[in-house]
Amino acid sequence: MSILLLSGHPDLKQSVANAEIIRLLQAEPTLTCRCLDELYPSYGIDVDAEQQALMSAELVVLQFPLYWSTYPALMKLWFDQVFSYGFAFGPAGSKLKDKPLILSITCGATAASYGPDGFNFFELDKYLAAAMHPVHAAQMAIVDTVVTFEMNSTPAEGGDVERVMQLSQQHAQQLLQTIRQYKNKI
Ligand SMILES: Cc1cc2nc3c(=O)[nH]c(=O)nc-3n(C[C@H](O)[C@H](O)[C@H](O)COP(=O)(O)O)c2cc1C
Repeated sequence: MSILLLSGHPDLKQSVANAEIIRLLQAEPTLTCRCLDELYPSYGIDVDAEQQALMSAELVVLQFPLYWSTYPALMKLWFDQVFSYGFAFGPAGSKLKDKPLILSITCGATAASYGPDGFNFFELDKYLAAAMHPVHAAQMAIVDTVVTFEMNSTPAEGGDVERVMQLSQQHAQQLLQTIRQYKNKI
């Protein structure tokens, strides 16, 4: 099964969590990674190449760090341009219909912060429901979501690189297991 991992991190050279997760995901033999920051350092998305990559994939994994409770601007631009009329939506736009998708998300905040009493105000699911509007419009099938909280690796903000590396390894194992379970099911 061909698996496309789409990374929305804006600068993997500065990343701890996403870089480590992507490195460990290479253990999956049929997985190809498209890292948007490396492909498009000037944010000039090749729409045809992205649409082709999506259509060829039998399973898509969206890998991103949570920024303001959604994906980074680079991934927003990717959605804006790639999920176009006639491709992802509209009368003839069902090229991604039923395409299975796994969300893989790293968060700096605690799980408890995502709720009415927390400093992030709402459940994470509420933010993700809005963020995944293009995915729903394209009628893709979200088969699972792997989320890890407390991945703050910036010491000046109370972060801990070693802890984030451990959490990243756990996250990658969980994601690999999720991918393998899906492959075994179909
Ligand atoms: C601009 C910006 C906004 C962020 N907003 C959130 C947020 O809303 N919720 C959260 O849990 N973490 C937030 N974070 C923390 C990141 O999710 C965290 O640093 C990232 O997942 C760590 O992954 P990395 O090491 O690959 O960069 C934010 C970070 C940045 C830089």
